[in-house]
Amino acid sequence: MTEFLLHSDIVEIAERLGPAVQEFSGKTVLLTGGRGFLGRYFMALFAYISDKVLEKPCRLVALDNLITAGKEGADIPDLPNVTFIRHNVIEPFKWTDEVHYVIHAAGIASPFYYRAYPLETLEVAVRGTRNMLETAQRHGARFTFFSSSEIYGDPDVKHVPTQESYRGNVSCQGPRACYDESKRVGETLCHIFHEKHGTATNTIRPFNVYGPGMQETDYRVLPNFANRIKAGRPLNVYGSGNQTRTFCYITDAMVGFLLVVLRGVPGEPYNIGNPTPEISMLELVHRIEKVLRHKVEHNVIEYPDSYPADEPNRRCPDIRKARLQLAFEPTVTLEDGLGRFLGWADKVYTGAQ
Ligand SMILES: NC(=O)c1ccc[n+]([C@@H]2O[C@H](COP(=O)([O-])OP(=O)(O)OC[C@H]3O[C@@H](n4cnc5c(N)ncnc54)[C@H](O)[C@@H]3O)[C@@H](O)[C@H]2O)c1
Repeated sequence: MTEFLLHSDIVEIAERLGPAVQEFSGKTVLLTGGRGFLGRYFMALFAYISDKVLEKPCRLVALDNLITAGKEGADIPDLPNVTFIRHNVIEPFKWTDEVHYVIHAAGIASPFYYRAYPLETLEVAVRGTRNMLETAQRHGARFTFFSSSEIYGDPDVKHVPTQESYRGNVSCQGPRACYDESKRVGETLCHIFHEKHGTATNTIRPFNVYGPGMQETDYRVLPNFANRIKAGRPLNVYGSGNQTRTFCYITDAMVGFLLVVLRGVPGEPYNIGNPTPEISMLELVHRIEKVLRHKVEHNVIEYPDSYPADEPNRRCPDIRKARLQLAFEPTVTLEDGLGRFLGWADKVYTGAQ
């Protein structure tokens, strides 16, 4: 398991959560997407806190149909207090034991994969969310939905950094619509269950989380770059290279996610990300060069056919709400996070595509 992530990062997440983490003591958490990038962190973290931190272990039940889990998600050894069930969340989930928290992280998150699986992408966020909301409602559990910063579409510059109240600029027919629009409907479902049934729902809108454990063939920008560095091939920067993103290291993101799971005000969405620095993809190449302390050859190329068009120009979170309501504060600098990620990828990635 540890080769899929850094054990020191799991310890860091647990320490930064402090006494709040005891709320999981003796509880049962139902997680979907348990074999994905974020899901593997939840599994490792819950196994660790049950063993080392909690007064009583917490049971984690993890579901995944492995559609995009890759080899990284396939060979996870059994972990104490973690039960894995292969299940497609588009189908209703029958569970008779107790559940205190439902974390719905199943999704098809990488643009390359949602272009390949548009209907599965839509259904996991709509039918999958409804099924898991019904499970939470039946058990009186808190419910957290992993939405996305993509629900904002391509925001007007007046709305960058983007607050949760921004309504978005999204196409319902573009090549990204299966992801963006279905996440929006997933959020609407959470709102309905909160209003109509009183279910304690929250939605999380993550902004580009990265770190050890990302699949080499995930095709999101950082694993893509790390794969090419490992293979000694030039990096391909798509489009103009001037589109901007922010990057949130996994330990910061996990602390934010778990603060939402534990403390989110019911019914509310939260941006979780690191607002600084907002950098272009060309600047990202320079930051990588600084961390590696050598030049990295790169080309600026047209978007490949496998990549959905209409990429947003800018993406940057306003995290004041999570700061004020949850005391969320990212602490890992881009240089530090890139160092940890690239060091891990250099050991684990093969460079094969
Ligand atoms: N990582 C990020 O930066 C980021 C950003 C925005 C949103 N999100 C959202 O957070 C969630 C987790 O992201 P991730 O990076 O771990 O993605 P991931 O693709 O690594 O993992 C998602 C997991 O969900 C599983 N899955 C997909 N459809 C399923 C279904 N119908 N039934 C059961 N399992 C299914 C996949 O097999 C995969 O293991 C996703 O919903 C994603 O949309 C992530």
